[in-house]
Amino acid sequence: MTISENELGQAIPVGVDDGYAQTKVCSPDPASLRPDVPGMPLVIPSRGRTGPASMGGAEGDVPASVYCCGHELVTVDAGLIDPEETRGEQYKTSALNRAVVFHALYRAGLDEPAARGRGLCLVTGLPYSRYFTAVGTRDNAQIEAKTLHYQQPVARLNGSPIARIVWHTVSPEAVAALAAHNVETRNPGGRWSAVIDIGGQTTDIVLVTRNTDGVTIDHAHSATAPTAMLSVHDYMRQKIPGLSRRACEDALRQFTHTQRALVHIERQDQDVSELVADSLAAVGAVIGRQADRLLATASADIDLILVAGGGAEALGRFLRIRGVEIVNDPQTANARGFFYKARERIREGRMRGRA
Ligand SMILES: Nc1ncnc2c1ncn2[C@@H]1O[C@H](COP(=O)(O)OP(=O)(O)OP(=O)(O)O)[C@@H](O)[C@H]1O
Ligand SMILES: [Mg+2]
Repeated sequence: MTISENELGQAIPVGVDDGYAQTKVCSPDPASLRPDVPGMPLVIPSRGRTGPASMGGAEGDVPASVYCCGHELVTVDAGLIDPEETRGEQYKTSALNRAVVFHALYRAGLDEPAARGRGLCLVTGLPYSRYFTAVGTRDNAQIEAKTLHYQQPVARLNGSPIARIVWHTVSPEAVAALAAHNVETRNPGGRWSAVIDIGGQTTDIVLVTRNTDGVTIDHAHSATAPTAMLSVHDYMRQKIPGLSRRACEDALRQFTHTQRALVHIERQDQDVSELVADSLAAVGAVIGRQADRLLATASADIDLILVAGGGAEALGRFLRIRGVEIVNDPQTANARGFFYKARERIREGRMRGRA
């Protein structure tokens, strides 16, 4: 996709963090007089199903949440009783992912005529271990696959137009949370900062240094671990077979906010607070040990250890790492970081367009 710097200067900055569990969109606040101030981010579960099921309204009408992605039909719906599994490497470039992302853009109002007229300057992400190769160089194959992914055909089955992307780049996920923290606290940060981004499927642990060359990632102390909030679900489901993911998630949110969790199992309320506490402690200890192993030799010099991602509030205190800080609104921190990056690119476009 090639557009002029002038066109890019007019585009709308948008950050999309298309996680395995939730898709987060950060775009400008429509109520603000300044068009580049981020609004309240939108969060939708990354849930849908490929195939013709659940595509009709009660009167036979086609809802806006049904997408044609090439030959595949995808229904995006948070309420589906049996959503498709998003765990696995292939989700990020699947038809389901494309439909979920365009649906999130629709829910954020970014397919309306004014927004389509300007087009979107989009920044999305990849987990640390997919953005970088094992030796710490950019994994161009993965990055290109993700860039091409949003250029594949996608349309709404009811014929209404979808959001128009005019520029897109891919950025590493956890680093974006640190960027959001630095922009929002107006603090450029110390020399060494670590980020632990606890998502649904994976936890990214990244050590970033700031020196005269700008920001660099210390790859010897960074990794993606396959343990995160869905591991807490697994732990709970081992103890109560048949407990749905929806019930696990509900229990975890209740417990995080009130230290108690009641779930409805087989038509009866059951107090699962102890099980939730044990599961969080077990998974928190695994992630904490992983972070400790990675960061141990650098730990005395690290000025800030930031915890981000939807699992931050639930698991932060179970990591048993001293002095960690939970970033503001952790589940949307990456999307906000991507938004700031898109906004920066648009400002560059305006400057170059004027020159
Ligand atoms: N306040 C909260 N309390 C408890 N759980 C929460 C809270 N906020 C979010 N979660 C849960 O945290 C999990 C991880 O959320 P997040 O959006 O970071 O995952 P993701 O980005 O989709 O996953 P990944 O980074 O692995 O792709 C989700 O299961 C979400 O429901
Ligand atoms: Mg994530």
